[in-house]
Amino acid sequence: MFNLIIKQYSRSEELMQQPDVIASNHNVVKTASIMTLSTNGDHNNSLFEQVPWFYAFCREQLFRDDTERIIAALWQDGDPVPGTELIELGCGPGFYSRRLAQRFRNLSVVGVDRSENQLHWARQRAAARGLVNCAFERVNVLELPCSDAHFDVLIASRLFTVLPEQHQALAEMYRVLKTGGRCFIAEPRYAVWASIPLFAMWLLAGVTHSGNGYREPLKATVLTDAAFENLFHHQPWKRIQTWQDGRYQYALCEKG
Ligand SMILES: C[S@@+](CC[C@H](N)C(=O)[O-])C[C@H]1O[C@@H](n2cnc3c(N)ncnc32)[C@H](O)[C@@H]1O
Repeated sequence: MFNLIIKQYSRSEELMQQPDVIASNHNVVKTASIMTLSTNGDHNNSLFEQVPWFYAFCREQLFRDDTERIIAALWQDGDPVPGTELIELGCGPGFYSRRLAQRFRNLSVVGVDRSENQLHWARQRAAARGLVNCAFERVNVLELPCSDAHFDVLIASRLFTVLPEQHQALAEMYRVLKTGGRCFIAEPRYAVWASIPLFAMWLLAGVTHSGNGYREPLKATVLTDAAFENLFHHQPWKRIQTWQDGRYQYALCEKG
């Protein structure tokens, strides 16, 4: 269970005053019950809300599919044990959450994102596949509303391209993982390639909507190999492995 329970408490008022902070109440295996806090229309200024179909198309048809790489890195000794809980941060249209939930039916998967339209896309496709071990929730990855040491596995793909608070995100990742828990991160290495979808989304959103700009940058943030590796040394991981493969870089970390 992802006992997000909105920390069930006095914080709900505080959260209401913070448009960016989104929380939910969740049970991964049963139907997820979603509670989205007021966003004061703030979500409208995200490209991922405005042209969700375009990002989903890029994710599903154009980007590298790392599903097998993720599985090989996380479960090299065999399938996940029943009851393993996995969270995907910034899941977007839920590509990896759905694939992993489909491959391993005894895995409990929750994908979290702040874009309701991305989550809608993810939920629809998960439902079409009859995936009951996969849920999607609107949550701020910088303030995951769950207890410490909750998850066995965490994955994040392309999140840092649009998330400036990378150290804060890493601290949250470390916090929510159990001892022995592992995280797998995948990020692009070349800004030009990584920026093309963002740029196209800016153009499309400009044509189809009349917003006053969007929170995402025109240019994707891409870390150098050294900066990427350095990112993981701010938490006391027991093991850190980073590597590059063509246009992507990866990290696999284990919490001691
Ligand atoms: C570039 S997309 C990556 C989507 C997917 N993981 C993939 O592999 O393509 C980044 C996602 O992170 C989400 N995101 C960015 N900042 C976030 C935050 N603070 N909390 C939750 N989601 C966030 C965006 O809404 C977007 O769906």
